[in-house]
Amino acid sequence: MGLEDLLLNLKMLMFGGKGGVGKTSCASSSAIWAAEHGRNTLIISTDPAHSLGDSLGVELPPGEPTPVKGIKNLTALEINPKVNMVEFQGITNMNPIEDLGMGGMMENFGMGDLQEFTSMNPPGIDEALAFGKVLEFIETEHDYDLIVFDTAPTGHTLRLLNLPDTLSGWIGKLLKLRFKMSKFFGVFKKMLSKDEIKEDNSLEILEKLNASIINAKEDLTNPLKNSFIVVMIPEEMAITETGRLLNALVKYNIPVSNIVINQLYQDKYDLCDFCKARREMQQKNLFKIRDIFGKKLGKNLIEVPLFKGEIREYQKLKEMGDYLINNLN
Ligand SMILES: Nc1ncnc2c1ncn2[C@@H]1O[C@H](COP(=O)(O)OP(=O)(O)O)[C@@H](O)[C@H]1O
Ligand SMILES: [Mg+2]
Repeated sequence: MGLEDLLLNLKMLMFGGKGGVGKTSCASSSAIWAAEHGRNTLIISTDPAHSLGDSLGVELPPGEPTPVKGIKNLTALEINPKVNMVEFQGITNMNPIEDLGMGGMMENFGMGDLQEFTSMNPPGIDEALAFGKVLEFIETEHDYDLIVFDTAPTGHTLRLLNLPDTLSGWIGKLLKLRFKMSKFFGVFKKMLSKDEIKEDNSLEILEKLNASIINAKEDLTNPLKNSFIVVMIPEEMAITETGRLLNALVKYNIPVSNIVINQLYQDKYDLCDFCKARREMQQKNLFKIRDIFGKKLGKNLIEVPLFKGEIREYQKLKEMGDYLINNLN
């Protein structure tokens, strides 16, 4: 499927790849195109080093979906792992061993599993729950027709994509733990004064979150709902990394139909020796990319030229959109 069809028909599109290759520029250009073609579009940056606001030329308060001025149907969001976590505080800070002074008695409640999760490599627990909240939002009634993800460089994004499994496994353990604890507390409740046990609704919150994450996983892996667009530059190292990324996406069952090859030197200008050499290097790699990813893997390749200037704000993003979507090349 071409990018145009994906933008008009899918529920989600994710742009990913190595750092600096043009993920944010491609995601913003595509989101603008979709919005201007009548789809109510939300673009979400999951990169902790956000640059979505800079690309669109708007101020984006962390964690707040903000309508993009001057573009109808477009809202942008940079997720903030540090805020809106109030409802999870009871969960993330939960340490029954210390809180209740129960020491060894808690061992058979599976606390080791929790420790394993809280000491996770980035994305850490805050970011994991923040992404979980985004997935929950996607699965709850909302007015957006399309959600475009501007993701972080490969490694981080792969860890996020693994989160539906990690999170739901972890939440499952927490639910079991909570259940055991509530039975355990049942015995002591009568002995303790009522206000010593804080009532909380975290069990309910967790169950809802878990159900949404399971649904989101189904959506992320459904080619009629989601597609991952790999963005790359025509360099040897990028070819190797793209191969690894594609393998990982297959492992997670995430559909990929398109690869953007960005920042291509054009021969329509008089090139200096330096640029000629770069163009030759790029063309050699472009042939390889066409052969490996185009012919062998049957991916739809989109070639985008290197622009003279930076790609920022509406006009430039529209120009990039022409290459991305209308295949101007
Ligand atoms: N085709 C292109 N021509 C010229 N500059 C580009 C092109 N694609 C991206 N850039 C520039 O490269 C920089 C990195 O792009 P960006 O989209 O932020 O990459 P990423 O999100 O992958 O880190 C930005 O300054 C952007 O304007
Ligand atoms: Mg970016």
